[in-house]
Amino acid sequence: PCRFVILVSGQGSNMQAIVQACREQGWPADIVAVIANREEAAGLAWARAQGIETACVPHRDYSSREAFDQALADVIDRYSPDYVLLAGFMRVLTPGFVRHFEHRLVNIHPSLLPAFPGLHTHAQALAKGVQAHGCTVHFVTPLLDSGPIIAQGAVPVLAGDTPESLAQRVLKVEHRIYPQVAYWLAEGRVEMGEAGRVDVQGVESRFFYG
Ligand code: GAR
Repeated sequence: PCRFVILVSGQGSNMQAIVQACREQGWPADIVAVIANREEAAGLAWARAQGIETACVPHRDYSSREAFDQALADVIDRYSPDYVLLAGFMRVLTPGFVRHFEHRLVNIHPSLLPAFPGLHTHAQALAKGVQAHGCTVHFVTPLLDSGPIIAQGAVPVLAGDTPESLAQRVLKVEHRIYPQVAYWLAEGRVEMGEAGRVDVQGVESRFFYG
């Protein structure tokens, strides 16, 4: 079976959605570890309660990004993952780390990339007045939030939306598209196609409406 390591920094609701889908749908996959950069990450306690192995690599214990990323990579490598899924992991990763996990590192970002990379994406979307917003699952490359897109989910922006109300609507579609992509990965259907674009065998549309 396909081995997934999932990295979280907070509640880990995307991680939970993936774990539950994997179990309920009987994927050819195992979530072999959930790893956080903060001991207080609620996702760690949840995973532990599910009987999943957990680890914490506190970024505050390291004096540089390089030292933290090296320690994190060492812990991840112990689990020999086929894929490392970033699920609300709020640390920018160094090029060395990204290269080490090339083609095996996947992220979910709360915007329709290439719009709104970085932080505070829902506030950015409201400030621009866009009428559609959403989320993107993509392979990670050294340039932040710019790697090849695997799937996207969109939601409407509604009158009276706040960053919080919009975030909630987007999160619901995140919980659909990230498990879907993890399933495709588990089945070995995701390939790097031409010019750094992604192909998924047997899938016509990788766009989801929230
Ligand atoms: C999600 O909305 C995810 O897209 C976002 O953080 C949230 C984590 O929620 N990720 C980023 O902003 C990455 N830069 P979760 O912990 O409940 O999955």
